Amino acid sequence: MSKKDIDWSNLTFAYQPTDYRYISNYKNGEWDEGTLSQDPNIVLNECAGVLQYSQSVFEGLKAYTTVDGRTVTFRPDLNAQRMFDSAKRLEIPPFPVDRFVEAVREVVKANEDWVPPYGTGATLYLRPYVFGSSPVIGVAPAEEYQFRIICTPVGPYFKGGVKPITIRVSDYDRAAPHGTGNIKAGLNYAMSLHPIMEAHRQGFSENIYLDPATRTKVEETGGANVLFVTKDGKLVTPKSDSILPSVTRRSLLYVAEHYLGMETEEREVLFEEVPDFVECGLCGTAAVISPIGCINDHGKEIKFPSGMEEIGPVMKKLRETLTGIQMGTIEPPEGWIYEIK
Ligand code: PLP
Ligand code: COI
Repeated sequence: MSKKDIDWSNLTFAYQPTDYRYISNYKNGEWDEGTLSQDPNIVLNECAGVLQYSQSVFEGLKAYTTVDGRTVTFRPDLNAQRMFDSAKRLEIPPFPVDRFVEAVREVVKANEDWVPPYGTGATLYLRPYVFGSSPVIGVAPAEEYQFRIICTPVGPYFKGGVKPITIRVSDYDRAAPHGTGNIKAGLNYAMSLHPIMEAHRQGFSENIYLDPATRTKVEETGGANVLFVTKDGKLVTPKSDSILPSVTRRSLLYVAEHYLGMETEEREVLFEEVPDFVECGLCGTAAVISPIGCINDHGKEIKFPSGMEEIGPVMKKLRETLTGIQMGTIEPPEGWIYEIK
């Protein structure tokens, strides 16, 4: 094994093809046995379900090099289950959970030279996805599908890494009540492209979305769940049926309670109580924990006491503990770390 000659520490969150991707095709009612391929291109029928009605769901997880040189992934079983659930919602035949986890192992193993070395701040991002590949013209699910896992080495999702960012309250909704906000479907991200470009043009890093029914409660951002810390040090995270059940958020709630002895609360969070929190952050596979210094609500600034210079002390501790577990410097809870052998 010899690692690729890459300037690992200066990677951004951008795609570059690696040597191998995993592919399995669904035809005649079953998934084939799957294979690794060196071809980054896909040839599709012009009327493929994904092209007409956006029939696709995806996942995001990472592979890490640990301090003692092992290659590991973090809770891939939870991504497998979430993709299973997402697929069912879009009438996509779900890819079996155990096969997903095995495919992750195979594709990371094949791309081990692309897993960034320990201490560089970079990781190998894995993007599993499934899409309708056979033609449809009336509104209907496709009959054939492709499951694929691609890999790409990445750096921080937000420029500056752990430097606090400013986000704005969006006037657009992310997810309808009883809609698809709780699954990881490409369509949820297509509709966020205009709001995110508008946010960038106005100088903000992201949008925070409120609940579409009443616009009084915090939901999440375009690509991450939200964390708050109260004055008395409690970790609070919004509960809603229309946000994505983040693997990172669920893990952090456990870490906060069992590693850091913090009280935690998963509950509805009213937007009007946001100024009472002392720290705020975004959490997700790509975002890890990205601190929020300021939320701009139509010109009115909510500035958190943790400020715009440094990540706040609680977010820092949470981030260090989570990444320590992922990179092998802190003992993980049973079943969280999958070693790639
Ligand atoms: N919310 C949204 C909308 C996302 O796209 C993501 C990213 O996957 C998350 C939350 C965080 O989820 P996870 O921690 O499982 O990556
Ligand atoms: C992830 O964190 O894996 C995501 O899919 C979020 C996306 C906005 C990059």
